[in-house]
Amino acid sequence: MADDVLSHAATLSDRTIDFRRRLHRRPEIGLQLPGTQEAILTEIADLGLDVRKGTSTTSVVAVLEGASDGPTVLLRGDMDALPLTENTGLDFASEIDGTMHACGHDTHVAMLAGAARLLTDRRANIAGRVVFMFQPGEEGFHGARYMLDEGLLDATGARPSGAFALHITSTFASGTINTRPGPLLASADTIRLTVQGKGGHASAPHYANDPIPVACEIVIALQTMVTRRIDIFDPAVVTIAHVTAGTTDNVIPPTAELEGTIRTLSAETRSRVHELVRQVAEGIGAAHGMQVELEIVAGYPVTVNDGDFASSVHAIAGELLGADRSSVMKTPIMGAEDWSYVLQEVPGAMAFLGACPPDLDPDTAPGNHSNLVVFDEAALATGVATYAAVALDVLGRA
Ligand code: NI
Repeated sequence: MADDVLSHAATLSDRTIDFRRRLHRRPEIGLQLPGTQEAILTEIADLGLDVRKGTSTTSVVAVLEGASDGPTVLLRGDMDALPLTENTGLDFASEIDGTMHACGHDTHVAMLAGAARLLTDRRANIAGRVVFMFQPGEEGFHGARYMLDEGLLDATGARPSGAFALHITSTFASGTINTRPGPLLASADTIRLTVQGKGGHASAPHYANDPIPVACEIVIALQTMVTRRIDIFDPAVVTIAHVTAGTTDNVIPPTAELEGTIRTLSAETRSRVHELVRQVAEGIGAAHGMQVELEIVAGYPVTVNDGDFASSVHAIAGELLGADRSSVMKTPIMGAEDWSYVLQEVPGAMAFLGACPPDLDPDTAPGNHSNLVVFDEAALATGVATYAAVALDVLGRA
C-alpha cells in the first residue's frame, strides 16, 4: 500500500506544484482570505466533496464520503500568509507588496487539495469519511478556534477519531517527516506591563519616583524566577523583547513599559508562570512604592501530539519513505500553532515536512518567516502521500 500511495502522489505532483505557485503569487493575511478560498473551491470543485464555507471566516470544510461506513478522520492545511516583503527572486514570487507566504501555508493548501484528489480516486475502497480543513488565520488570529466554534468536529455527524496536520519547514532535509509524541510546540502568551512611577527632574530623583530602574529590576528578576522556580524538566521561556521609557537625558518619565512573550510546554507550567510573573512584577513594584499594571494576553496553548498517534505517523512515514526519512524529534520547538486547539479535542498529531532546497544546508538555510525562505517543491508529493497514508491508516484501524 505504502509504495502505491507515494507513486499515486507523484502523479499529482505537477498539479500540486502549479496550484501552490498560484497561491504563492497571491498571498492573503488573517481570517478573511477571499482569493485563497475561491482558489480552493475551484481546485476541488470536480471531486464531488460535500463543501461548506465558513461563516465568520473564509474557511473551507470539505468532506469525502467513503463507499461504506466507518470512522471520520480530519486533515488540516492552513491558508494564511505573513506581512513581509518577499525577496527570494523566484519567478512565482508574491505579486502583493508587503505580503508573503513565508511560512509555507501555500504548500499546505496545495498538499491538502492533492490529498483530497488522491483519496477521492480511492473512494471505492474507503470506509468512513475524511474531513479536509482549510483554515485561515493561523498566524496569531486563532483561525482554528473559529472553525471549532462553527462545528468543525461535527462536519460528518461523528467526531473524528484522529486528526493530522503537516507543517513544511526549510530547516529539515527535503522529503523527511519529523514528529514526536507529547509536546511538539509551545504555548505562546504575551506580557504587557506598565510600571507607574512619578516623573520629575533627572537631577533630583528623590522628588520623583523613577520607574526605569524598577522596570530593569523586573526584567532581571523574571529570568531569576524562571531558573529558580520552574522545573527545568518542564521548562519555560520568558523574554522581555520590548522596553519603552522616557524621552530625553534629563527627565524622569512617569511610566516605563515592558512587552514580552511566555513560552511553555505544559498547561501546568503555563499557569504557574502567569502567576509568578504577576508576583515578581507587582512585588518589585511594591518594594519601590509603585503600582505595576500587568496584562497577560493568552495566545495558543501547547501543541501536544497524542503519543500513539505520533508513533503511528512515524511508522507510516518510515514505511512510505524509508526509515531514514522518518525521524522522532529529540525536542519540541518553542514556536506555537493553533492546531493545538484541535489536538485538545481529538487524538492526533502534527508532523514537520522537511523541504530544504537541495543546494542549501538545513542548518543554515533561511527559515520559515524569513523573506528569503524557499521550499523544495519535490517534497510536496511526500506531503500529499503522508496526509493520505495517515488518513487511510486511521480509517483502516476501526
Ligand atoms: Ni506556519
